Amino acid sequence: MIEEKAYAAIVGVGQTRFGELFDRSLTGLVLEAGLTAIKNAKIKRDDIDAMFVGSFIPAILNNQGLIGAKLAEELGVDIPIYRCESACSSGGDAITLAVQGVMAGLYDIVVAGGVEKMAEGDPVNALKAAASETERVHGNTFTSLYAQITRRHMHLYGTTREQLAMVASKNHRHAKDNPYAHFRNQVTPEQILKGSFVAEPLTLFDCSPISDGGAAAIIVSPKLAKNFKDPVYITGFGKGSASLNLAARKNIAEIPSTKIAVKRAFEMRNKRLPKKTISDINLAEVHDCFTIEELLAMEDLGFCKKGEAGKIVEKSFKKHEGDSHVIYHTPKGDVLFNPGGGLKAAGHPVGATGIRQLVELVDQMRGTSGHPAPVKSKMALSHNIGGTGGNAVVTLYEVE
Ligand code: COA
Repeated sequence: MIEEKAYAAIVGVGQTRFGELFDRSLTGLVLEAGLTAIKNAKIKRDDIDAMFVGSFIPAILNNQGLIGAKLAEELGVDIPIYRCESACSSGGDAITLAVQGVMAGLYDIVVAGGVEKMAEGDPVNALKAAASETERVHGNTFTSLYAQITRRHMHLYGTTREQLAMVASKNHRHAKDNPYAHFRNQVTPEQILKGSFVAEPLTLFDCSPISDGGAAAIIVSPKLAKNFKDPVYITGFGKGSASLNLAARKNIAEIPSTKIAVKRAFEMRNKRLPKKTISDINLAEVHDCFTIEELLAMEDLGFCKKGEAGKIVEKSFKKHEGDSHVIYHTPKGDVLFNPGGGLKAAGHPVGATGIRQLVELVDQMRGTSGHPAPVKSKMALSHNIGGTGGNAVVTLYEVE
């Protein structure tokens, strides 16, 4: 049933290690990930009809624009290669644009990739390109913008720094056995709370790091999927947009684009398949660029009501003390967030993140992950946002 009604299928995945990779080039990272995905799908380079590559600031940080032509040159191909840009959700956009190319019947086999090389130049300043001019002139960085969101959430709902520290500690725990993760060290909530403030109340450990890395996936039309081993189907996706400027939002303790994106993803899916809801998701990759964003994601995706996420994290974290993973026990069921460490510990090379989320979910669903999660999932979700949520992309993945 899913095979017949899905919009596309993922048949190969690959990623590089994430971290400070000073000896690697920008395009070298995405090529390594792409060639791994090609090998994983057992196809030939010449089978690929088009490529969609998410990358945010290569022209600023690496002085490299027109990366499509650079990739064509290095691969020796003349196919269409599109760069997709929506800040930290550039990878999410690459997935959905690749799927739309397949759905339109333009292409049979495409690559959705993502890359960023951030550990050079002035990354904190460059990232501000995804903020509004008003925010920039007042000296904001992304950490200070998310600190304002965090303060508001604490004020309205009683969320505590201890609960945020549990999110970070949990994600470092999930990254322990992930060989691709930027950080595999373990940190307790107590150590996190003693971390130095970057923008109060956020400490070093509340932040995702500055990472380099690439990731890639081979996406095919559903009619071709049966020729491949263990396809994972894309059964819906949605994108929502909101104001770039935080001050233009009604409540900065929520991300409206996430709510719109998840609603659209399920509507798209349920048009073709028997109805499912957020309660059917037991595995998710959510965009924890700062710890507060994992709580916002839990609430705005609909796993619980606004303001409840902090308490759910605290209760679940305590329940799973000593376990390899922390499963969140939400009103909509049990769900594992970020099995490979999320942005916090797996790393956040911004253009690659959306694709890394896909790679993680596909490996978990196929049972091929080197760091298997204690959850068998037939339906998973990825959530990838740009900036402070100026846009959000939600994608649904299913297996038969
Ligand atoms: N989490 C945990 N440890 C971290 C870390 C992080 N996010 N970032 C750095 N570290 C560690 C380093 O490994 C290093 O450890 P060591 O001394 O044992 O080697 C130490 O902290 C200092 O690292 P350094 O690279 O000097 O950190 P920094 O002060 O330059 O940068 C941040 C730290 C948090 C300011 C930076 O990672 C940051 O700006 N993150 C946010 C990125 C962002 O905004 N992304 C976009 C999201 S929308």
